Amino acid sequence: MMILTTLLIGALLVGALITFIVLGFAHFVPWLFVLAAIVVVIWAKSREKSHFLEWKDEYSVGIEAIDKDHRKLVNLINQFQTAVLYRTGKEFEQEAFDALVDYTRTHFRSEEDLMEEHGYPDFEAHRKQHRKMIAQVEACMAQYMTKGRDVPLRKAVEFLQDWLINHINGTDQEYSEFLRSKGVR
Ligand SMILES: [Fe+2]
Ligand SMILES: [Fe+2]
Repeated sequence: MMILTTLLIGALLVGALITFIVLGFAHFVPWLFVLAAIVVVIWAKSREKSHFLEWKDEYSVGIEAIDKDHRKLVNLINQFQTAVLYRTGKEFEQEAFDALVDYTRTHFRSEEDLMEEHGYPDFEAHRKQHRKMIAQVEACMAQYMTKGRDVPLRKAVEFLQDWLINHINGTDQEYSEFLRSKGVR
């Protein structure tokens, strides 16, 4: 939960406590504070949840091993986001980030091997996209290491979410038909 939201909830609860003491339990005003605090908690939770990625069947490229990788990447992004959102500390954030980037590299490599092996015509352009993404992510992490956490990491989460979904649902879909026509499942 964001600091501002936590402060707001804290302030509402303090408001409830003070008005309970001054006005008593029978008065409606303290209950308004309690109600407002509950509404803010529900709102904050739903906002956090809506920021997580969810796998959709339409993301499938029709190749089992690649779909499995993509699902795992979605999970790793969510784990990284959790680490950032809940301020789990630099070490944990770094670990979640490394796990994501490591798996991204592994996945890119196996995707590239598959495209190369079957002579996919857009192989070079696709590989370029993969390399560009890794470079951007590394730049983001370098910024985090030197400048501190908040902005760079939140940006990294957003960037990774957008990139991954656009890539899986766009560029990766383009090889699907070609590779499947070569018998890859
Ligand atoms: Fe992919
Ligand atoms: Fe790809």
